Amino acid sequence: MEPVLISLQMRFCPPAGTPLPDALSIKSDCSKSYSFGAGAQRCEIFLTHKDGALYAYVNDCPHIHSPLDWQPDRFLNRENTHIKCGTHGALFELADGRCIEGPCVGRKLTPVPISLTATGVVIGTETEDHRIIVA
Ligand code: FES
Repeated sequence: MEPVLISLQMRFCPPAGTPLPDALSIKSDCSKSYSFGAGAQRCEIFLTHKDGALYAYVNDCPHIHSPLDWQPDRFLNRENTHIKCGTHGALFELADGRCIEGPCVGRKLTPVPISLTATGVVIGTETEDHRIIVA
């Protein structure tokens, strides 16, 4: 696993160990968003469950920094194959967040490190991956 680099989009994200409630209840092909802080210091991330793994990214499209979800907790395209931005329709690979179609091709979503503990899923340390196996 490659370590996740901390970017500007993560500067207000909560510290390692912060719980992500009900993450293990996210069904396959579904997502859940989590908000932290308020106002200019607000940070929103989301988890997507796909094929037995959870992927975590900052909810921030690299095109014009809009939120990605096109309905609450809806981040995948109709075919459930890619993350889709609800603003202009960019498509992103789940595995690495790379945009493969739309106005920001080649740019990437910001990964969020996560960790599976005895009490559930938490924000991970910067040396941990943005993907964990859950099934
Ligand atoms: S804001 Fe996401 S594609 Fe334009």
